[in-house]
Amino acid sequence: MVLRMNRFFLRDYAGRHRSNQLPGWPRRLPSDRGSGSEHSGSKPGEDKPHSKFSEHITFGQKNRKDLLEQSATTLTRILQSYDESLFVEEIEEYYGHSDFANWGYWQNETHTQKEACEGLMERLLSLIPAKEGTILDVACGKGATTRYLTKYYRPNNVTGINFSQKQLQRAQKNAPGCKFLLMDATNLTFKDNTFDAVICVEAAFHFHTRRQFLAEAHRVLRPGGYFVVSDILFHPGAEAAGPMLHAQNWMPGPAAYKRLLLSLGFQNVRVINATEECARRFDRYIFNYVFKKLQSKEIDWDMFKTFMERRRDKNMAVSFYIIASGRKAWHSRYRQS
Ligand SMILES: C[S@@+](CC[C@H](N)C(=O)[O-])C[C@H]1O[C@@H](n2cnc3c(N)ncnc32)[C@H](O)[C@@H]1O
Repeated sequence: MVLRMNRFFLRDYAGRHRSNQLPGWPRRLPSDRGSGSEHSGSKPGEDKPHSKFSEHITFGQKNRKDLLEQSATTLTRILQSYDESLFVEEIEEYYGHSDFANWGYWQNETHTQKEACEGLMERLLSLIPAKEGTILDVACGKGATTRYLTKYYRPNNVTGINFSQKQLQRAQKNAPGCKFLLMDATNLTFKDNTFDAVICVEAAFHFHTRRQFLAEAHRVLRPGGYFVVSDILFHPGAEAAGPMLHAQNWMPGPAAYKRLLLSLGFQNVRVINATEECARRFDRYIFNYVFKKLQSKEIDWDMFKTFMERRRDKNMAVSFYIIASGRKAWHSRYRQS
């Protein structure tokens, strides 16, 4: 059982068998700026602690064809992994059958993974002051995030997209009245200026590329529209070798994320370091959850050891969990496609 659960706990964001071979693992994690700290993005080099590891990014040494083939394989792997792991009974149970699939946002009053996932939605939606009109949920998983949006938006104003037909079928059941479409996040088929808001919960690090997705999100937003995202930044070694990551997505930290959003035309950009609330507290919760299963003999020692090894790899791989928001200008000087 736990072997199946392990697939989910760490979701192979950065695979153990490969990450062990990586050169230059950082000896310590980058300095954390503390709970909920926000980055001004105005100081070049602010993310420097990571930049010395950039030599380990492998994509610079490959040609474009290699890269495209590699990314296609990675996308297939991501799709298959989610289609399998998100439908495992133990995982559905862990999420309280809510069908969320993220690490959540943990506060003192958060007691379950489902509550944490709802907390993450609240935190993200708090960054959209006017919850009006239409909203697009990018990489909507099994539709739990989309369903949550109907707390604030009319179902027929909510659209979810995913590149998995299997997940979309579940999503349709979870959020009746909402529209669901099969689509790659980096190639949205909507016209320019379609949505009043775009949200993407814990998926952008899988996209090839994150930058392409952010540009698409900006394009499909109406002038004045809001964008919110929760995203994970990894150490470059993990990005280069993680079986469900792309080396091209490496980014040193929240300040660089902010600069990227600004460069794509977003205004009023905020990037919040939520590593403590989303990554570290999730890690502590899931450790306790699995440890209790060991104590109650639902799992044996070998399974627990496997879990701990993969937990260590994940903790070494993750550098930041960020929550970001921005707004499309009323009069955008950025060219629409
Ligand atoms: C960690 S899950 C998050 C799901 C959902 N947002 C949630 O929080 O419950 C990541 C999701 O991203 C989707 N995904 C990954 N790459 C994608 C892509 N290129 N285009 C669309 N969806 C993608 C996966 O199918 C999966 O549903």
